[in-house]
Amino acid sequence: MNLSKSTWACLLLLLVSLFRAGQLHWLSIAELSSQSTQLDKTLAVPESVSSRQSRYRFQDEENDQTMLDDKNSDIFYFVQISDLHISKFKNQGHTNHFIQFMNSFLPMIKPELVVVTGDLTDAKDSDRIKTQQYPEEWEMYKAIVEQGSGGIPWYDTRGNHDAFNLESWQSEHNLYRAYGKSAELLEAGEGVYSWQVEKPFGKYQFVAMDASPKKGPSRPINFFGYLTSTAMDHLASAIMTPTQYNHTFVFSHYPTTTMVFGLGDILQSYNPWTDSLELELADMKDHGVFRIIAIDNDMISFVDQELPLADIDIGIPTLSKEGQVQWPEKLTVKPTILITNPKDSRYVLGRKEPFYRTRTSTHLRFLVFSKSDPSQLQVHITVDGHNHPFPAEFVGTSNMPLWVSSWEPNDFNDMNSHTIHIEVTDKSTMLIGEASVEFRVDGFRLAIGGGVGEWLIGSHVATLVSLILQILISLLFLYIILERT
Ligand SMILES: *[C@@H]1O[C@H](CO)[C@@H](O)[C@H](O)[C@H]1NC(C)=O
Repeated sequence: MNLSKSTWACLLLLLVSLFRAGQLHWLSIAELSSQSTQLDKTLAVPESVSSRQSRYRFQDEENDQTMLDDKNSDIFYFVQISDLHISKFKNQGHTNHFIQFMNSFLPMIKPELVVVTGDLTDAKDSDRIKTQQYPEEWEMYKAIVEQGSGGIPWYDTRGNHDAFNLESWQSEHNLYRAYGKSAELLEAGEGVYSWQVEKPFGKYQFVAMDASPKKGPSRPINFFGYLTSTAMDHLASAIMTPTQYNHTFVFSHYPTTTMVFGLGDILQSYNPWTDSLELELADMKDHGVFRIIAIDNDMISFVDQELPLADIDIGIPTLSKEGQVQWPEKLTVKPTILITNPKDSRYVLGRKEPFYRTRTSTHLRFLVFSKSDPSQLQVHITVDGHNHPFPAEFVGTSNMPLWVSSWEPNDFNDMNSHTIHIEVTDKSTMLIGEASVEFRVDGFRLAIGGGVGEWLIGSHVATLVSLILQILISLLFLYIILERT
């Protein structure tokens, strides 16, 4: 090929600009990518440390003595809530949503612990324009938690609203520091803290992270965009501790991603590299949603339940002179159902959960949270629309509302997904609770179907797309130049 001088010059220029573009791109993402590599490492570590063991552990089916049967054992559950937005102004019942959750639901659910992932207070004025940390809102939060949690361990972390108008953690306006339940833990861990739940059947780790926006929102790096590198180090060491945990749960606050991206749905995604799930939770403030997460024989399942919003008063609550919460009348609530076996196939963690235990299980297992005595509850189970032939039986205690019903999982082991539906009627109120999950017996994972949300959340995708675009553009240039010669 005989190229003219000017073509050579063009090619050279192209090379130089490509180099420069690459360099600029690298510089712009260097800090972020070092964080996200760290993130990958962090999340991958429990896996790389334990992957062989866990693979063996979970695939050594013959030696696994654990059985999902009718015994009330090897199970516990906790609760997560988020975005309380306690406000001294907003006359829309927001604070009452949280109050009624504490008043009518928490004593009935009796979880192992509660995690609150930020935006404890609203910190906005009556016009919703100016932001400010109000002591009254924080006093309200503290009073509700202290007087309403009934000794259930409580862990909280800040959201972006809790960090409005603060120059630093040390700021006198950082009211979380004075009123937050986990302020000391968060301070000692410089933005990250962890705790463990030890059971006779396993050890479980929980990590909570602060979300004060230090670097400004930047979607592709997800919540780690809000952490300083020191906080990242703490996170890394929290997750990398040598002790083996059966499962690790990480909590942080996203500042209203759905509003920013106009997706209108909740972001949920599965990361195949780390075999982990990222599951955004709707807010307590407007939607009145809380989440119960159960770990049953190391299979994780959860249910998001809405408060009966229409029954909740919309006034602005105040504390008495003595600082007492004025608890409203308790709500009448329908049963909340959480099916733990079989679990929803969209959330299967193939390398971290012993999913084959469903195949060897002898019973369907589900939790029914209700104020009424189990004898008042009437359970109706269908699978794929057909009545389940075996009766449901309460095998729990007052602290573990476990129900079981015998089943034959091999009947459903046909490489297809099936739907189980459970309906519980409370005969004393005639209110009905319902739950259904799509399951597979072979442990195959169904797509979450989070659509754009799931796609966006996969930060690797964004990097890949920009790389492909860059290569395409360069090739196009090259083609144009060669074409002209
Ligand atoms: C938790 O992990 C330990 C150690 O790997 C294992 O022996 C135990 O069976 C696990 N617990 C459950 C409930 O599977």
